[in-house]
Amino acid sequence: MINESDMKPEKNTFPRWRKATLDEIVEVMRQVHGRDVSRYDESFLTKSIDKRLAATSMDTPVAYLEHLAQDREEAEALFRSLSIGYSEFFRDPLTFALLEQVVLPGLAEKKEKTGRGEIRVWSAGCAAGQEAWSVAILLEEMAAARGKPLPYRIFATDLSPAELTVARTGVYDAVGLQNVRWRHLHTYFTRKEERYTLVPRLRDRVDFSAYDLLDGYSVCPPVSVYGDFDLVLCCNLLFYYRPEIRSAILEKVQGCLAPGGYFVTGETEGGIVKESGGLRAVAPPPAVFQKIEPRR
Ligand SMILES: C[S@@+](CC[C@H](N)C(=O)[O-])C[C@H]1O[C@@H](n2cnc3c(N)ncnc32)[C@H](O)[C@@H]1O
Repeated sequence: MINESDMKPEKNTFPRWRKATLDEIVEVMRQVHGRDVSRYDESFLTKSIDKRLAATSMDTPVAYLEHLAQDREEAEALFRSLSIGYSEFFRDPLTFALLEQVVLPGLAEKKEKTGRGEIRVWSAGCAAGQEAWSVAILLEEMAAARGKPLPYRIFATDLSPAELTVARTGVYDAVGLQNVRWRHLHTYFTRKEERYTLVPRLRDRVDFSAYDLLDGYSVCPPVSVYGDFDLVLCCNLLFYYRPEIRSAILEKVQGCLAPGGYFVTGETEGGIVKESGGLRAVAPPPAVFQKIEPRR
């Protein structure tokens, strides 16, 4: 499995790289192989190509460029390497503590007061579902503690059909379960040897579907019909993209938020969101935001 921390964009640490060569690689991918990699953050792209250099035993980026121009399989290998699907249950513990103690109880109370139906959640870029299931566990726990039904719907979307297949199966190995409380593990999973399967009553609570956040023809995932989400999670995805692409994604997810709705991002991505405006950080470190309503 790809270790995500190896891949996170950072300052370019590869002095042998020339920007011109990177641009040529992007052009070869587009013109020869029909794959658009220009949307990715430059340092992430450089790092990913450098890994392909090592895998193909090429000495220099220029040698790799020549190889790439003639080899479709290599182009597909490079394209696949840009899709990082790593995830964990309750991945950022501080963020999930804030959801558990402040955000979700607040939303439940608001729904009850206004009689405005279910809590609507969107996990955007859900990978194999760990994030969506983590929110479902918190909501189930809250309902049990309150002793009354808590209507909610979770929509979880991703680009990758392979990730969505695992998500729908709801079967995981122990990697990625390290932040799950012992009690939750025993309540919401059944264990068979080293595999953990989500219990059926939880599996009915999340609706998985394919959706590209960069789809220009829709303003929210079609399966949700009208968006209007009380909570949107878009974590550990923004930093793989160039700034203008990040802004387009942020604009889309903010447009889907209900008045006073919450937006959650990865703990290392908070700075990107702050820069975009329209949201206020709920608490430091800024990974949980609330939609700012325009003054009348
Ligand atoms: C690193 S995983 C993060 C998963 C989860 N959100 C988390 O924080 O653990 C990033 C996921 O975003 C998905 N993704 C990347 N770009 C996307 C896009 N444009 N539309 C939908 N999903 C996307 C990838 O397929 C991958 O599964």
